[in-house]
Formats: sequence, structure tokens, C-alpha cells
Amino acid sequence: MLQISVTKAETLKQKPDENKLGFGNFFTDHMFVMEYTEGKGWHDARIVPYAPLAIDPACMVLHYAQETFEGMKAYRKADGSIQFFRPLENVRRLNRSNERLCMPAVDEDLFLEALKQLVSIDENWVPHIPETSLYIRPFMIATDVHLGVHASHTYKFIIIMSPVGAYYPEGLNPVKIFVESDDVRAVRGGTGFTKCGGNYAASIRAGARAAENGYSQVLWLDGVERKYIEEVGAMNVMFKIGDEVITPELSGSILPGITRKSCIELLKYWGVKVSERKLAVEELFAAAKEGRLVEAFGTGTAAVISPIGALKWNDTEVVINNGEIGALTQKLYDNLTGIQWGKVEDPFGWIEPLK
Ligand code: PLP
Ligand code: COI
Repeated sequence: MLQISVTKAETLKQKPDENKLGFGNFFTDHMFVMEYTEGKGWHDARIVPYAPLAIDPACMVLHYAQETFEGMKAYRKADGSIQFFRPLENVRRLNRSNERLCMPAVDEDLFLEALKQLVSIDENWVPHIPETSLYIRPFMIATDVHLGVHASHTYKFIIIMSPVGAYYPEGLNPVKIFVESDDVRAVRGGTGFTKCGGNYAASIRAGARAAENGYSQVLWLDGVERKYIEEVGAMNVMFKIGDEVITPELSGSILPGITRKSCIELLKYWGVKVSERKLAVEELFAAAKEGRLVEAFGTGTAAVISPIGALKWNDTEVVINNGEIGALTQKLYDNLTGIQWGKVEDPFGWIEPLK
């Protein structure tokens, strides 16, 4: 495995107030960087002081968006120790994204080692107060200085980290979501199943329109018929209809969320009926009108479990569970975050300790 060299920062930054972290506002003292050159593979793995990158204006990522990223967290337990949640799932998804975007794979063991060394060096940045964590953002960019459209021959892989609180200012209070019928995020055969920057660029306009109207995020419909529910801007979605939890199947155009997968596994473990299937927006709104849509929530690393209190589609708005968090949503939140923060036992082997 590649050796990772370490250069420590000479001066450390002042840490932010843990009560005012928000999401993605502050960055730690160090970052991990390594380079890829075709024919040579990955090289120059290093941990260095967090600093701006010098990038040539003709760098390919700036023009054709050959970029992938991941989102994961390190959690501090009550005894002060630090742990990760299913980190191998992130590097495996990164490598699936990379394959789609013709980018090189990252070795799983090296990824884990880089993560552990980086978090160890910036250990004091993992926040202490409840509901906070250290958000970790691994990403890869194409660095050839060239304007032809083809795969780059050189890449940088970087990991940066940010201490975070809640993703939505609402916290665990239910969010309002707007069902988007005009713009689409992704189509089958495209890059929807990957975590690449371009997917998010395409989503910003609808998100901004929803925000102007008082909605936190959009709920995407499938890109072909605009009929089936896909996912929310930064979360997968689940609906409790009657006593069954329904979530859109992995169609190729939605992100296979690690929180989604974990919720499905938890629900099955509890004996709750879960179906991964196509769910038409009409079916969802009909269930709401008949009083059978009893809970709705989003799942994601940044947002964890986010209850949905209202859904707007064209001219119809439905309120779910009186705009309050439902019992099953709360139970999932408590158990999932309980495992992540080491407050409840992990029967699944999801936790990877830092040391
Ligand atoms: N869907 C999108 C578009 C996302 O950006 C995310 C967040 O990463 C998710 C779903 C949830 O994925 P995960 O649970 O792996 O964080
Ligand atoms: C996540 O990591 O959970 C994300 O959704 C990434 C995001 C903030 C775009």
C-alpha cells in the first residue's frame, strides 16, 4: 500500500463554536491529497495543511465536470472515542461513480487508512456536543490541462473535513417538500446513480424555485414520464402507507443511499414490511387523500432522517401526520443515530472505530 507522508500545519485555526456550526461552513487544519497519472497509478499520497489548490484554468474538471465525491461522517461517542459508519460503503460507491465517469478506482484499504490518519491528526475537530459530527468530503477531479472532451489522464483525490450540526435549520422538525414537475435531475443511462458534481448543478434551479416558495427541497420525479417518485435533493425518500414502508427502487437514476440501505435493513430487522418499488406520485397523493399516508421522511448522511411534514404537487398540498414527526420516523432516527454516536448497540457490524 502507498505510504502516506504527513506535513503538519504550523499554526492551527481557531475552532468554531460547536453550537453554531451549521453545515459545511468550517474546515479542519489538514487535508489528504494524492495524484493519479495514467501508466503510473496513484502516487504522492500525503496529509498536508488545508490550503487552496493551484489549478490551471484549462484544467479539465473546470470545463467538463469530470468530478465525483462522497459524503460521510466521523462521530464522537460519550467516552470521547471516535467512530465511522459503514465507511467501505462510501469507497465502493465512489468507485462505482468513478467507473461511470471513466475515472480511476481508489483502493479500499488505502481509503480507510487515509481516512483514519487524517481524522486522527484533526481529532480535536470532531465536535463534542449532541447532534454534531465531522462531515468528511472525499472527492476526485480531472486535472489534465486540455480542452478536448475525453477522459483525463491525471487526477487528484482529496479528502477535506468540516465539523457540522444539522443540515436543515429545521433539525428534526418536519420539512416541506415541493414535487418538481418541470426540471428533471437524471435519467436512466445517465449519471443519476453516481455522486458527481454535475447532478447537483442540474438540480439547483428547481431547488431555488422551491426555496422561493417556502419549501426546503424538491422531490424529483423520473426523467422520462415525470410520474414516479425518485428522491429528494440530498436524500432518498420513504413513505409509510398503511403499515408498509415504500421507497423507490434503485432505478439507475437515483443515488443508492447508505442511509437508505441502513434504514431498510433496520426496518426489516424490526419486522416492518418494506417495499422497494416504483411509486407513482398519483398513488402517493391518493393515499394521502384517503388518510393512508401516515409518515414520510428523507434519509441521507448530511440530513440523517428528516421528517417530511408537507408535500406540494401542482396545486395540491398535503400535510402528513399533522406536520409532526411520526413514531416510526422517530424510532429510526433514534436507533440509527444511536448506533452512529455509539449510544445503542450495533448488531450489524456497521461501526468502524478510529482506533
Ligand atoms: N440522494 C442524493 C441526491 C444525495 O446527495 C444523498 C446524499 O449523499 C443521498 C441521496 C443519501 O445518500 P447517503 O445516505 O449515502 O448519504
Ligand atoms: C450527503 O452527504 O448527505 C449529501 O447529501 C451531500 C450533499 C450535502 C450534497
